[in-house]
Amino acid sequence: MVEKNLDFRSDTTTWPTPEMREAAAKAAVGDMGYGEDPTVNELERVAAEVFGKEAALFCTSGTQGNAVSVLAHTDRGDSFVCEARAHLYTIERGHWSVIGSLIPKLVKGVDGFLPPDDVRVAIGRRRRAGPKTSLLCLENTHLSSGGSPLSPEQMKEDYDVAKEYGLGVHTDGARIFNAAVALGVDVKEIAKGSDTIQACLSKGLAAPVGSVVVGTESLIEKAKYYRGMLGGSMRQAGIIAAPGIIALTKMVDRLAEDHANAKVLAEGLQRLGIELRLPLKTNMLFIDYTGIGWTGEDWSKACERLGWKSRGGAMGTRLVVHYGIEREDIEAFLEGLEKII
Ligand SMILES: Cc1ncc(COP(=O)(O)O)c(C=O)c1O
Repeated sequence: MVEKNLDFRSDTTTWPTPEMREAAAKAAVGDMGYGEDPTVNELERVAAEVFGKEAALFCTSGTQGNAVSVLAHTDRGDSFVCEARAHLYTIERGHWSVIGSLIPKLVKGVDGFLPPDDVRVAIGRRRRAGPKTSLLCLENTHLSSGGSPLSPEQMKEDYDVAKEYGLGVHTDGARIFNAAVALGVDVKEIAKGSDTIQACLSKGLAAPVGSVVVGTESLIEKAKYYRGMLGGSMRQAGIIAAPGIIALTKMVDRLAEDHANAKVLAEGLQRLGIELRLPLKTNMLFIDYTGIGWTGEDWSKACERLGWKSRGGAMGTRLVVHYGIEREDIEAFLEGLEKII
């Protein structure tokens, strides 16, 4: 039985499955700092295999995974190219500036895709006298575009431009499995378009903690150095790595259920006069309730009455569908909402 978790705010609110809790309790452990935690080592082996990369690194969070990856690709004072609303640029406390002394060069994406010519322009800017541009960062799925997946072909287009100029490529793949499932491709195909990828275990895949970074042996070795610097060299971390193995091996295919449930939710809301601000692509909806004359307060109160957590913004909000929310919950929510409206 799936424990109900009626929370639309984010897929970060997912709870571990009963199997994950049991695996955590029984996990074989050792000192990860000495490379001796067998469960962490197994998680890293599985992650490298799933992505078809040489090596992997278990990190405490997506932010840490992105930070150590960006540092692994760059020298202090370098610049990097990324999408103007990328999570890494807008949300992560500027680790690239504070720790890396890096200079961002922003490109406006189209549904999260960076037009190759614009990437060329960004790299080329001040090339002769300016800072060395050493990294291109992508985000898949792209959060600010409504959880848009980038296809292997799109990734390759930007990857090829990066390689033309000798740049490394890092992908913030917090929700890369949502992309793979939505596109119906193996995540290995998407991963070919990036030298390193950070993938969150703790979002739609429902593990309680952590991310993996995958890539070449040499980049992962560098990332490991920076993980140590950022306090990510943990001790008996097998307890939190064990759910991560289940996340990677057993929780990926079920993301299709979230996408299907998000579609049912979107269609139901539209029937009630609530619009989508962005097209639905994966597991997140960006809605606008001004058409029915509602404010954020109206939305929040209605959700609270129905037993759901959802923060209402002035004109609309984001709803994320995830493990712990089932079809019957969405249907009950829509029925309740209709009565309130
Ligand atoms: C696109 C994206 N990247 C990175 C992160 C950071 O992950 P974490 O919260 O584990 O640091 C998030 C978190 O929500 C995210 O949505």
